[in-house]
Amino acid sequence: MLFTLDNISYVYPESLSGEKSLDGVSLEVAAGDFIALIGEIGSGKSTLLKLLVGLLKPTEGKVLFEGAPIPAKGKRLREVRRKVGMVFQFAEAQVFESSVLNEAAYGLVNYDYPREDITALSREALGMVGLPPERFGGKSPFELSGGERKRLALASIMALKPDMLLLDEPAAGLDSEGRNMLKSVLTAHRSAGKGAVLVSHDLDLSMELCPKVIVLHEGRKVYDGGRDIFYDVQKLRSWGLEAPELVQAWNDIPGRGLTPVVKAFSLSEAKILMQRFKNV
Ligand SMILES: Nc1ncnc2c1ncn2[C@@H]1O[C@H](COP(=O)(O)OP(=O)(O)O)[C@@H](O)[C@H]1O
Ligand SMILES: [Mg+2]
Repeated sequence: MLFTLDNISYVYPESLSGEKSLDGVSLEVAAGDFIALIGEIGSGKSTLLKLLVGLLKPTEGKVLFEGAPIPAKGKRLREVRRKVGMVFQFAEAQVFESSVLNEAAYGLVNYDYPREDITALSREALGMVGLPPERFGGKSPFELSGGERKRLALASIMALKPDMLLLDEPAAGLDSEGRNMLKSVLTAHRSAGKGAVLVSHDLDLSMELCPKVIVLHEGRKVYDGGRDIFYDVQKLRSWGLEAPELVQAWNDIPGRGLTPVVKAFSLSEAKILMQRFKNV
């Protein structure tokens, strides 16, 4: 197992109430899993991702990576960080380098990649996120729009070709073209057999990309299973979540109650199924 969380709880040291931000959460993430981590604001999603990557230490319980705890420093921590790439919730606010190309290369330099590889890999990653290096490479990251900086944050992680991606609201602040870019980057990542934990308010995107779903509610894990859950409008609502737009539209199709219960998890699937209904 890539990650094992065993009955973890987490209380922020700066919390005045001493309330648990995560409470008795156990879960497993296998290599190659694509998991949608969903829950209303404040349910503990960002906290959970930070525990996975070892940025926070659980107050109670254990976090294991490949069967062993994540140390606070040293070679193994570096190894974990290289294999697990995390894009933070407000990544667009965290830009360190003087140029877009250097920013994309940041992780590679940190991990002592050979210089010729650094240039090639960071240029490739910039192209992948729709910031062609010829046009953007020499710019200052501060000249970029918020959405472009979000793309840049993704590029500096993708440049390392991580086995597992932890993405905290990667679609926030992106326009529809940016959303499509994200979709194709993640689809390619998945086709390469690699995994991701995706936190996104865009449940249509989460549903389309992730066969597995984990739901947090008030710091507790309330669901861990297949993406059929996106069709349980009542349950989602009880956790403070609105069903994906596709599900709402799908459930509104007149007469669909007469057809066998088929579920579409993406717009393209929906179109194929609609065609089939028409031909019946
Ligand atoms: N630095 C912090 N100090 C104290 N409490 C925090 C801190 N960060 C988050 N929290 C609290 O922990 C809970 C979970 O937060 P978070 O993991 O950010 O939720 P989500 O990402 O699902 O919106 C919330 O109640 C939040 O107020
Ligand atoms: Mg969050």
